Amino acid sequence: MLTVLLSVFLGILKGSTLPAPSNVRFLSKNLQNVLHWKSPEENEARMWYTVQYKIYGESWKDKIECQNITKTYCDLSSETEDYDDYYYARVKAVSGASFSDWNQSSRFNPKGETNISAPRVYVEATNCSIAITFIGPEIWKSNNQTPVNPSLIDIFELKYNVSIFNKNSKKTVRGSHVLLESKQL
Ligand SMILES: *[C@@H]1O[C@H](CO)[C@@H](O)[C@H](O)[C@H]1NC(C)=O
Ligand SMILES: *[C@@H]1O[C@H](CO)[C@@H](O)[C@H](O)[C@H]1NC(C)=O
Ligand SMILES: *[C@@H]1O[C@H](CO)[C@@H](O)[C@H](O)[C@H]1NC(C)=O
Ligand SMILES: *[C@@H]1O[C@H](CO)[C@@H](O)[C@H](O)[C@H]1NC(C)=O
Ligand SMILES: *[C@@H]1O[C@H](CO)[C@@H](O)[C@H](O)[C@H]1NC(C)=O
Repeated sequence: MLTVLLSVFLGILKGSTLPAPSNVRFLSKNLQNVLHWKSPEENEARMWYTVQYKIYGESWKDKIECQNITKTYCDLSSETEDYDDYYYARVKAVSGASFSDWNQSSRFNPKGETNISAPRVYVEATNCSIAITFIGPEIWKSNNQTPVNPSLIDIFELKYNVSIFNKNSKKTVRGSHVLLESKQL
């Protein structure tokens, strides 16, 4: 009982009376890097969050757009644009005057960890030939940015294996590495 009271008391002194968010991690697709976390409360509606990020070796910076937010994710793509770098992000819960400890993501390297979408595939058949067109995924870019170079295909040196199944002969033909050129739509 005493220890419980004491820790509550210490919590009040520190101002950190809330449990921290958990499961703080980056989810990333095509180099769009979004921090996600789990609310410490069942009733998520009354909870606010504040997010900071840092480049490995530097100090924490506020993510201005993610101060006192109610959603449980925060897009940090602009802050993690250098895909070869290593990043951390952390989040705390805020409710009125009280707040939680920070909880931190593990070290995140965009190039090493992002997931790449499948290409879109278009097939155009004529009597004696077929043309297969792949459109590789586009790199994430913020709304007001014009297309960025290099493309995902260049960054990851993406190669695609193509196989064609012939329904009549029931045979599959495999093409070896097909190197795509990036294509703006
Ligand atoms: C951070 O989250 C993990 C689970 O993802 C949890 O085990 C840990 O206790 C949390 N840290 C704090 C300070 O609450
Ligand atoms: C990549 O996709 C897998 C499978 O859906 C998922 O488990 C993983 O968390 C994703 N990684 C990132 C960094 O988004
Ligand atoms: C977030 O909320 C706290 C406490 O309510 C307040 O002091 C702080 O100024 C707010 N920050 C922003 C960026 O709105
Ligand atoms: C394809 O074959 C059809 C019927 O055999 C023929 O009418 C048509 O002209 C051919 N098209 C081309 C582009 O060769
Ligand atoms: C792609 O093709 C190459 C060469 O034919 C082969 O070595 C490789 O295993 C294939 N990869 C997959 C994922 O099928």
